[in-house]
Amino acid sequence: MGKLAHVACILLVVSVGASGQDLSPQRVSKFVNIFASAVMPEADDSASHALAPAAQAQAAISSAEFEGAYLEDGKGWSIWDERTNNPGAVPREKRVYLNQTGNVACDFYHRYREDMLTAKGLGATHYRMSIAWTRIFPNGDGAINQPGVDHYSEQIDFAIAIGLEPVLTCYHWDLPQALQERFGGWNSEQIVPIFATYAATIFKAFGDRVLYWTTINEPKTFCWEGYGGGMHAPGISDEEQVANCSLNVLKSHAAAFKKFKELVPGGKISMNLNAEWTLPFDPNSELDKAAAERKMEFEFGVFAHPIFFGQFPESVRARLPYLPEISPELAEALVGSFNYIALNHYTSTYARHKDGATSQIGRCDYEVSHVGADGLTLGEPGDSGWLYSVPWGFRKVLNYVNDMYKPDEISVTENGFNVPGESDMTMDQILNDTKRIKFFKEYTESGVAAAVYDKVPITSYYAWAQTDNFEWQDGYSKHFGVIHVNFTTQKRTKKASARFLEGIFSNAK
Ligand SMILES: *[C@@H]1O[C@H](CO)[C@@H](O)[C@H](O)[C@H]1NC(C)=O
Ligand SMILES: *[C@@H]1O[C@H](CO)[C@@H](O)[C@H](O)[C@H]1NC(C)=O
Ligand SMILES: *[C@@H]1O[C@H](CO)[C@@H](O)[C@H](O)[C@H]1NC(C)=O
Ligand SMILES: *[C@@H]1O[C@H](CO)[C@@H](O)[C@H](O)[C@H]1NC(C)=O
Repeated sequence: MGKLAHVACILLVVSVGASGQDLSPQRVSKFVNIFASAVMPEADDSASHALAPAAQAQAAISSAEFEGAYLEDGKGWSIWDERTNNPGAVPREKRVYLNQTGNVACDFYHRYREDMLTAKGLGATHYRMSIAWTRIFPNGDGAINQPGVDHYSEQIDFAIAIGLEPVLTCYHWDLPQALQERFGGWNSEQIVPIFATYAATIFKAFGDRVLYWTTINEPKTFCWEGYGGGMHAPGISDEEQVANCSLNVLKSHAAAFKKFKELVPGGKISMNLNAEWTLPFDPNSELDKAAAERKMEFEFGVFAHPIFFGQFPESVRARLPYLPEISPELAEALVGSFNYIALNHYTSTYARHKDGATSQIGRCDYEVSHVGADGLTLGEPGDSGWLYSVPWGFRKVLNYVNDMYKPDEISVTENGFNVPGESDMTMDQILNDTKRIKFFKEYTESGVAAAVYDKVPITSYYAWAQTDNFEWQDGYSKHFGVIHVNFTTQKRTKKASARFLEGIFSNAK
């Protein structure tokens, strides 16, 4: 997601009964075709034909934001447990809102049955969840914590039993604290074999029932904010570590992909990459046009170019002398190390050329702005400072990814909105979330236009998020849920947007 916040998740899955799964390529392509054909042949359909491509509604859950149960069943300590439970060690301006923690969050660990049944009731077909590394290996590696494996196994079986396809993300930002302390986490190449072993362990444990996976969620966000801006755990500010993190993510992804092919033949895997659409601040300026292209390469291309073309974008290499090289051996392992593109998208921005300007990863020669040369913001503001509703930017970014990389399949694994001022509203106002409905209506129409008119191969769409949750450094102050959670009582109440999505999901079937 966006600049600092949130979360994500998503995907599709195909699964199967406890024994006798059918993960054959035929089954996969049939599954994918169902979604594609629901949209593609009907080019005469008006965009109001709802979100056909998205056929799947989704519920997305990431362990650190939703599960709570932070000490249960042998779970180890993650970098987010450390950050939130030791606010004294964090500089004031980087502390989580009101020192809140994800210790309980929305208690998904104990309430997953209720939440999955609700998702099913809303017409969801797929359920994206992330696995907490520290439940499988409390210290990152070593002995497997069997109760953690058993927990996810039951969760997956439950999803399948009620007719939801589970989709799994291996890593959604909750690194074992032990690995951060031992060698600096993602800054060190030592993480690569350890991540590969963790991934292989869950591929073995769940790959018989789960077909759709992602390795790592939004590396741009956690490398930039965790090791550069320092707003996210582990709270480091060092542009060279951001560059190291980016390379080590790619190496870890490639190593996990190799294991995946051996262990889950017929499965599909990707890495969730986030992209904002970027416009030139002054549309008549060649320098600003180049700045806008460069921002796409700094944020999306840094990960997408290596897995498609085997090298970091030239614009990035030219500006960051400390960016490690991608060796020919690594390039070979990276190119084609995915089965589809998993795209998280929330918002759009302007970029303006400025010599010497820096971002968290270092010199980029552009500045980001939400206000254009006309003095207006690009779209309606959300509740987070980085989030503006720019529905047509969704169609643009889908076309950008399609034109630049020509993928066979794009799954939109996250897209959602927070309503300005929701924390200060009465319950009646919260539940009447017309701005969130407007966001979903316009974004899904824009996505359908990309699929139908521009022939972008979108096969699925996941709305973020099912419930309000622990929103990283924003704590419980920002709300992406289509379902309200009272964090005192854990009571769930559907907002109007949940009903709206229900309509979309039933149309998409
Ligand atoms: C957060 O924790 C720090 C360190 O313990 C403390 O000084 C500060 O007052 C706390 N802030 C709030 C809002 O509780
Ligand atoms: C980045 O990684 C390289 C190669 O492992 C290492 O030599 C360097 O010290 C790292 N940079 C930082 C800032 O730790
Ligand atoms: C919901 O809010 C809209 C304005 O955003 C208002 O027009 C409408 O009357 C409200 N509906 C209810 C049931 O309160
Ligand atoms: C949560 O529920 C309690 C008990 O019904 C109520 O007193 C409280 O105001 C609710 N909190 C929120 C934020 O809705």
